[in-house]
Amino acid sequence: MVVKNVCCIGAGYVGGPTCSVIAWKCPDIQVHVVDKSEMRIKQWNSDKLPIYEPDLEDVVRECRGRNLFFTNNIEAAIKAADLIFISVNTPTKTYGIGKGRAADLKHIEMCARTIAEVSEGNKIVVEKSTVPVRAAESITHILSANTKPGVSFQILSNPEFLAEGTAIDNLLNPDRVLIGGEESEAGAAAVAELTWIYNHWVPPERIITTSTWSSELSKLASNAFLAQRVSSINAISALCEATGADVTQVASAVGKDSRIGSKFLTASVGFGGSCFQKDLLNLVYIAECLNLPEVAMYWQQVTDMNVYQRTRFAKRIVECLFNTVADKSLAVFGFAFKKNTGDTRESPAKYVCSHLLEEGARLNIYDPKVEKIQIEHDLTCPTLTNEPERVKKLIEIFDDPYEAVRDAHAIVVLTEWDEFKKFDYKRMHEVMKKPAFVFDGRKILDHKALIKLGFHTETIGKRFTRNSLLRSSGEHFPAFAWTP
Ligand code: UDX
Ligand code: ADP
Repeated sequence: MVVKNVCCIGAGYVGGPTCSVIAWKCPDIQVHVVDKSEMRIKQWNSDKLPIYEPDLEDVVRECRGRNLFFTNNIEAAIKAADLIFISVNTPTKTYGIGKGRAADLKHIEMCARTIAEVSEGNKIVVEKSTVPVRAAESITHILSANTKPGVSFQILSNPEFLAEGTAIDNLLNPDRVLIGGEESEAGAAAVAELTWIYNHWVPPERIITTSTWSSELSKLASNAFLAQRVSSINAISALCEATGADVTQVASAVGKDSRIGSKFLTASVGFGGSCFQKDLLNLVYIAECLNLPEVAMYWQQVTDMNVYQRTRFAKRIVECLFNTVADKSLAVFGFAFKKNTGDTRESPAKYVCSHLLEEGARLNIYDPKVEKIQIEHDLTCPTLTNEPERVKKLIEIFDDPYEAVRDAHAIVVLTEWDEFKKFDYKRMHEVMKKPAFVFDGRKILDHKALIKLGFHTETIGKRFTRNSLLRSSGEHFPAFAWTP
């Protein structure tokens, strides 16, 4: 079999960019991306794509209508495909056994059932969504229990490692492509087919093949390791604030050790995104189910540290603003979970904002890519508040950051958007209430310059002592308690 037709079920952050790049790099393959949401497909077929991702528009524009198609006709696309990617969402369960921890596989199961129902001939089914270990086994089970005569399936695991905001670059230059398959002749043949697709642009030495189970666990483990690094440096940042060390200097010194490496050591207000939290919780749940409580506790701590970090930051804001933010306007810069994406899933901004709203603050929120409706939805959703009407009255979404800071007591930076570094903070300071505060939860601003302008400046992993404030500015600043 030579793959000529690919179908991808799920036109989201993973399926959309991945299949756009496959279509771009493999003009000899027809790629159909399908989704049950009519709105999503409409957006993929319009000038305003449903997700913001640098360079994605160019790729889609070049391939759409040529060998890349977005459609709601799921059954026809499955029927025509030789290879089917399953890229549907696997959120944390919000009900029943494993609630709050296990991955919810209902969408995956639905896909498996539809594939079994409509397929004719042989197909390769590839799980791309992050799934718990042995999910492929469940897919195999559903498919084989419903297989019609003359139809056969091979199930592969091919987890996606792209990070949002850099998805196209990650897809074009992956550190590795991981393909897990059944250890049999038919399994090896299916792995070869998928390898052939990636060979269009990925050097062979970067394509790794493993057993299905190793592949599934590698994805969870990779995300857990990355999250653990962020939590580790965030734990150190709390120590820095208490001792007078500077976490940037510590991270730089630690990262120079080639065994440790310098990446993913930026202390922040906490990690977010659709994967880290979900995969950690999933790992914890799996370990518990396998009667490995010590392993479960170890990984649980990584997510506990993340909750601690964002809560600590929110509390520090209240503390610095003279222990009350009730009825004070605060300008919030950034709502996405990281720069260069409009995605707010598990964004630390949501949690910090929610804490401040609980304290009665009024929030003027500005984010260059997150839609107004999304911010309102996130901050009023039942998992964050049981007072949506009260919250609605306390938040205002701005298109202009200079308007957002007018009469505000503080600027709170929650996403590391590059444009925030270029703002005219002198102009902002002039229209803010005094003393004006900046809380930089992403460590991106020029703190010395802000202090010179008269801002009381706070950031992660570093305390500006009263003396250093006075030295830098020559002005008088409110003292705060800092005891070495
Ligand atoms: C992650 C993995 O990187 C990717 O391989 C996987 O496929 C999906 O999950 P993503 O969540 O899109 O990707 O973004 P990532 O760049 O990993 O950032 C995750 C979070 O960690 C963000 O909130 C980011 O701001 C935060 N982070 C990252 C830090 O706080 N400090 C760092 O040093 C790095
Ligand atoms: P991810 O970040 O994993 O890509 P998203 O939520 O962005 O997750 O995208 C998943 C997509 O999968 C959504 O657009 C959703 O509508 C789609 N989806 C979920 N279940 C099905 C299904 N059974 N058939 C088709 N599409 C589905």
